[in-house]
Amino acid sequence: MKRVTRRGKQVLDILHVLTSVGWIGVGLCQLALNVIGLLTDDPHLRHAVHAIAHLLDRWLLIALALGSLTTGTLLGLKTRWGLISYWWVIAKIALSAGLLVFTPIWMGGWAIEATALSSDSDDAHQPAYLSVRDDLMSGSVAVVTTLVLIMVISVVKPWGRTPRGRRRQRSSPEPANRGRP
Ligand code: HEM
Repeated sequence: MKRVTRRGKQVLDILHVLTSVGWIGVGLCQLALNVIGLLTDDPHLRHAVHAIAHLLDRWLLIALALGSLTTGTLLGLKTRWGLISYWWVIAKIALSAGLLVFTPIWMGGWAIEATALSSDSDDAHQPAYLSVRDDLMSGSVAVVTTLVLIMVISVVKPWGRTPRGRRRQRSSPEPANRGRP
């Protein structure tokens, strides 16, 4: 596949970091909203935080996650990193894909449930609401932790080449001073 130009790579880098950092930002906002939902005694505020978290889930989070995955995939395809030549890229794809499935299906479902159950202030002490609120809280912590892990993997780029990456290196070795793709 044709490699990207220097300018194209810069544009992709900017878009990738922008959408990825945005994704973590929305994850942190949702965590903050879930903490407020956990601590507040105000039933209106409790209902509002779940409704806002659900809105963020439906629009901003999906757009940023898809943006990050698309630009990341293009960076892999259009540079020497490839998509299956380095373990760190494979780990990122697996973790990002896991998040893309987990967030809308589980977190989205819990957010809808929590919004419905908190609309009546009497329901807020029912076991069904308390259980979904705990699910949302631990789900939020898991999402943010995974995103921070992906961020660390992106910068450290650990674990070296896969067997395919080693074969590719043998068939077209890079000059010694160009360790990074
Ligand atoms: C399908 C998923 C993804 C793929 C295939 C992917 C691929 C890549 C590639 C190939 C680069 C290297 C660009 C370069 O230095 O030449 C990169 C950089 C980066 N990625 Fe991803 N990425 C993905 C998802 C993510 C996610 C979800 C995050 C964060 C939440 C993220 C954060 C970053 C950051 C911060 C960099 C810049 C690292 C640096 O310049 O040292 N990526 N990504």
